[in-house]
Amino acid sequence: MPDTINMKRVFSGIQPSGDLHLGNYVGALKGWVNQQNNRDNFFCIVDLHALTVKQNPDELRDRTLQTAALYIACGIDPIKSCVFIQSHVSVHAEVCWLLNCITPLGWLERMTQYKDKSLRTDSILAGLLDYPVLMAADIIIYDAHEVPVGEDQKQHVELARDIAQRFNRIYGETFVVPEPVISKTGARVMGLNDATIKMSKEHSKIRGHAVRLLDDPKEIERSFKRAVTDSYNEIRFSDDTERAGVNNLLGIYKVITGKTESQVEKDFENLKGYGSLKTIVAEVVIEELRPIQEKYARIMNDSGELHRILLDGGEKAAEISESKLSEVKYKMGLLNL
Ligand code: TYM
Repeated sequence: MPDTINMKRVFSGIQPSGDLHLGNYVGALKGWVNQQNNRDNFFCIVDLHALTVKQNPDELRDRTLQTAALYIACGIDPIKSCVFIQSHVSVHAEVCWLLNCITPLGWLERMTQYKDKSLRTDSILAGLLDYPVLMAADIIIYDAHEVPVGEDQKQHVELARDIAQRFNRIYGETFVVPEPVISKTGARVMGLNDATIKMSKEHSKIRGHAVRLLDDPKEIERSFKRAVTDSYNEIRFSDDTERAGVNNLLGIYKVITGKTESQVEKDFENLKGYGSLKTIVAEVVIEELRPIQEKYARIMNDSGELHRILLDGGEKAAEISESKLSEVKYKMGLLNL
């Protein structure tokens, strides 16, 4: 086990609510892996959050395990990082309740994800509104300093900061106030079929929308071939919304290859046509995902080992979060006999 005493603590998670895609990989997982050597890491599969939309119970169980296997296949090392399932550590739900009791309703009603999602459903569940309080609980019970996420989660991490600060003001210094960590590239991968909306698990079943991490090479090639572009026939980065499709393809290439913008544009300098751009981006993605898919298959072949990792991770997470929970309960006036 690495010595984590002087390291910053990191907490992040992914919902097992659908197939993981390239946005989850470059917006979250890849960054987690790159930082894991010099951080004290907690990476959670947030299955309680997934319940805020209707799930098929058997599928949710399967996807929870698959998501954990993908964490490891992408390079999360269970020796260096605590990997666990949110519902295995009941402290998360308990702290969520305690934080509910200091969180103004107006803060939750302002969340843009809540507003978007509630517009698309006839019956708004209380869990959907409360979602960011559970997320705040996830983060602050570990005293996490950093929360590496994609752009879409920034507002939720800011709410976690507000909740931590409010608790500290009312009950005295208790929680570390966490910082969102959002990478400059890859923080918002857009849909290949529509570059005006972010790539999401929710739409990942729509043909050509997402590249799923477990798609086979032929499927990945097909998705990129169908990707929307424009009529400018010019391969360079641009803020122009009409060129969002090409910009998205270049952004994906940039984050996967680790090159700078000018290096990327140089790579495509003499290329004619968007067809070749799509082929080249598809190739780098296929090569990036190949070892991940191979490792994933090996992990799923030995589910005993994966279960052991998750049980150990859950134990460690429970130990750390339970001591924080006792402090919080005491400060809030709950009797401990
Ligand atoms: P989730 O499951 O929607 O997404 C997981 C991570 O992937 C990032 N992401 C993207 N990044 C770039 N481009 C995209 N198109 C894209 N789509 C998703 C997300 O920003 C996220 O980092 N509420 C969280 C899960 C959560 C959590 C937490 C995260 C629960 N508790 C505590 C951090 C800390 C969510 O729904 O992520």
